[in-house]
Amino acid sequence: MVRGIAAGNFEGLFELRAPVIMIMGAGTIGSRAFSADIDRVGGGSGDYDFLESDLVLVDRDDVERYRLEEIRNKVILGDALKVLRKLDDEVVDMVFIDPPYFLQLPRKRLRRWRVGTVVEGVYDEWDQFSSFQEYDDFITRLLTEVRRVMKPSATIWVIGTYHNIYRVGKIMQDLGFWILNDVIWVKTNPMPNWLGVRFTNATEHLIWAVKGKSVKRYTFNREYAKIFGIWGKTGENVWVLPICQGRERLKDGGGKRLHSTQKPVELLKRAILTSTKEGDLVLDPVAGTGTTGYVARALRRDFIMIEINPRYVKGIVERFRHPPMLKDPQHV
Ligand SMILES: C[S@@+](CC[C@H](N)C(=O)[O-])C[C@H]1O[C@@H](n2cnc3c(N)ncnc32)[C@H](O)[C@@H]1O
Repeated sequence: MVRGIAAGNFEGLFELRAPVIMIMGAGTIGSRAFSADIDRVGGGSGDYDFLESDLVLVDRDDVERYRLEEIRNKVILGDALKVLRKLDDEVVDMVFIDPPYFLQLPRKRLRRWRVGTVVEGVYDEWDQFSSFQEYDDFITRLLTEVRRVMKPSATIWVIGTYHNIYRVGKIMQDLGFWILNDVIWVKTNPMPNWLGVRFTNATEHLIWAVKGKSVKRYTFNREYAKIFGIWGKTGENVWVLPICQGRERLKDGGGKRLHSTQKPVELLKRAILTSTKEGDLVLDPVAGTGTTGYVARALRRDFIMIEINPRYVKGIVERFRHPPMLKDPQHV
């Protein structure tokens, strides 16, 4: 059932939260009415007060279409595969996707050799798929809808590791996307390699693409590319920066990291500044802790974010209480 979350239905989530379901049953939270599905995760307990935020819109099965203005600068709590179908064609200027990686880590927790401490890997239910086929189907469905909602001049970034990026790249090409670059993110503080049986994995890859080969009028802010890339005149496709750490990392109520793959603000800053203009609309359909929208707003862009897990949506609402002050590297 856990697989159901990643595959795009709420069933797994509700099963995990069965005790909560028993307590509730009201059809509203505060003044707002919700669909039967969402009633089951919210209401009554106070834990779901965040659903009252103006930032959040809860997807409902009875809504067939979303007007752009009602979802601009909103986080939609729902399944991206369902929500995207309700958006009009060709509305967004840029897309950033950080999809599940399908890391396939062993069921047992990994412990560091000698010291014995637990490795904080990605064991989350949203990263579980039963097979490559199921993973590929999810990515294909997601990217098909995303491509439809991209304006003709829009670009798309998809980030991944060696576990998934080659599959994602093939699917993108099969769907007609035209790859402009892959940007290599070199991590200055990668997860240590404790066993020493293979290279330390210190990179992630970002595929940057347009909808098709004929697209020429996309946004590329060369002056930012020059600042962010290492070496060279135009700016090479290598970005060197640390993983998300310290105070930037969102915590849950128990002081543990809220999300295992929260991306650094600096990474999104680079993607957004190089490929969008002020006022552009940026979409992130698998938003996690909402780094994309958070940075987009700070840089005077608009966003639409979709996230299936209420815990993360709650984290996004809290995060937006303290908007970041981002320095524009062109003006410092
Ligand atoms: C790799 S994480 C994104 C992390 C994010 N970039 C950040 O900075 O926090 C992928 C996210 O996709 C979400 N997700 C998985 N399947 C989804 C679906 N069908 N609809 C919406 N979100 C989904 C997961 O809950 C998870 O938070």
